[in-house]
Amino acid sequence: MKILFISSEVAPFSKSGGLGDVAGALPAALAALGHDVKVVTPRYRELRDAGRLSPTGQVLQLRFPFGEAGGPILSVRMAERLEVLFLENEFFFGNRNGLYGDAWGEFGDNARRFSYLSVGALQAAQRLGFVPDIVHANDWQTGLAPLALRRGFQATQLADAKSVFTIHNLAYQGHFNKAVMEDLGLPWELFTADEGLEFYDSVNFMKGGLVFADALTTVSPTYAREIQTPEQGYGLDGLLRHRAHRLHGILNGIDVHEWNPATDPHLPARYGPRELGGKSVCKRALLEHFGLPPGDAPVFAIVSRLAWQKGTDLLLEVLPTALQADIRFVGVGSGEPELEEGLRALQARYPKQVGVHVGFDARLSHLVEAGADFFLMPSRYEPCGLNQMYSLRYGTVPIVRATGGLVDTVEGGLGGNGLVFEAFHRAALLAAFRRALALYADPPRLVDFQRRGMDKDFSWDVSARRYEAVYTALLAE
Ligand code: ADP
Ligand code: GLC
Repeated sequence: MKILFISSEVAPFSKSGGLGDVAGALPAALAALGHDVKVVTPRYRELRDAGRLSPTGQVLQLRFPFGEAGGPILSVRMAERLEVLFLENEFFFGNRNGLYGDAWGEFGDNARRFSYLSVGALQAAQRLGFVPDIVHANDWQTGLAPLALRRGFQATQLADAKSVFTIHNLAYQGHFNKAVMEDLGLPWELFTADEGLEFYDSVNFMKGGLVFADALTTVSPTYAREIQTPEQGYGLDGLLRHRAHRLHGILNGIDVHEWNPATDPHLPARYGPRELGGKSVCKRALLEHFGLPPGDAPVFAIVSRLAWQKGTDLLLEVLPTALQADIRFVGVGSGEPELEEGLRALQARYPKQVGVHVGFDARLSHLVEAGADFFLMPSRYEPCGLNQMYSLRYGTVPIVRATGGLVDTVEGGLGGNGLVFEAFHRAALLAAFRRALALYADPPRLVDFQRRGMDKDFSWDVSARRYEAVYTALLAE
């Protein structure tokens, strides 16, 4: 099959969270199955490995009511059947830092920027003579692609393509003032609540995907059920129940080459499930990195967007109590200013026990995964979550709340590989800390937990075949 995969971030080039990881790894797994895959993404100003980009010689030219917009298409060939295409546009992507916003908040022209990506991706396929069987869009930033495919490209070679839309996070929907209907040239007949883009009198980009895609997927089976309830549906549960027969929960995999403690170049020592020795070297290096005194006390860690979703507020509430025990805490993250401030304040108050890095640091995230004993994910909700899988693979016992993909990946209980708690409540999280301390005090049991986690297969192979099955079924319709 020929697959056009559209994503607003693609690791290793750009990444603000798990979407980047998935858009880096899933297309590679599909290409390895023998499909022809082109990934389309913006050419942001801040791009890792920008030196690898080369021109395709093709240029986009789009006409919107707000004006003409265009720019060159650049490319990197990642594998025989996998190419990443970058849409360059000085006005939308080149003239600023940040993917979706900066310290001042969300960019005011995101509706235009991501319409450019969504429609531009389809035009890029045309320009390059790539006739996709499947157009696979991800999250609100590309929500208009399934709509554009159905409404704007029916007289083109793309007319027969089927579309798939993946929900990575239903809480971020891309709401805009209804004035964007005219700004972007969207017909007013689409401004309806039922089968259109309207959402409480504003425009909802994610609905473009949910209403118009031929199939919907989300990133874990549990989240697929949760988003059909009012509690987790963020106003779209009715629509999702209506389209439930088209909705598939497919668990994310992880890039097992990038995240492998036996080969990870970011670590001072390497290790595997049968020789865990290198892990203590990593722990020492981690403590040293944060200027914490060396020692045997258990290290608890987070690497996270600091957001309501992640339960960072609950963690900050509980940590002063947990820190009464002889533990260390290491936090790497960025996001909401109050939460960043909360982490800094914690470090100031417990300088011998707490290390904090406010910011995004991919390299450091590897050292944290390797050097910590426990990894905390007290999420309010979690569509899939990748860090718990990285943790399991690195022999770092995850402590997770029973929600979304955390349920589908971490096994609680005596013979499990992690510690799971139910209620989003301080008592429940503190009880999980207590269980962690007990586990840490019993090294043979701890090693059993670690090995069971490290032996689990989280590679993309299985899940990529599930996506393949979704595509195949669509093409057979
Ligand atoms: P989400 O996509 O909701 O943020 P995931 O667990 O799916 O959650 O993915 C988060 C990804 O982003 C992981 O690869 C994680 O290591 C990475 N990440 C998050 N915050 C940081 C940070 N401050 N520095 C480095 N990596 C980070
Ligand atoms: C979203 C979710 C996260 C998921 C990631 C990749 O950012 O918050 O749970 O793992 O997308 O699908």
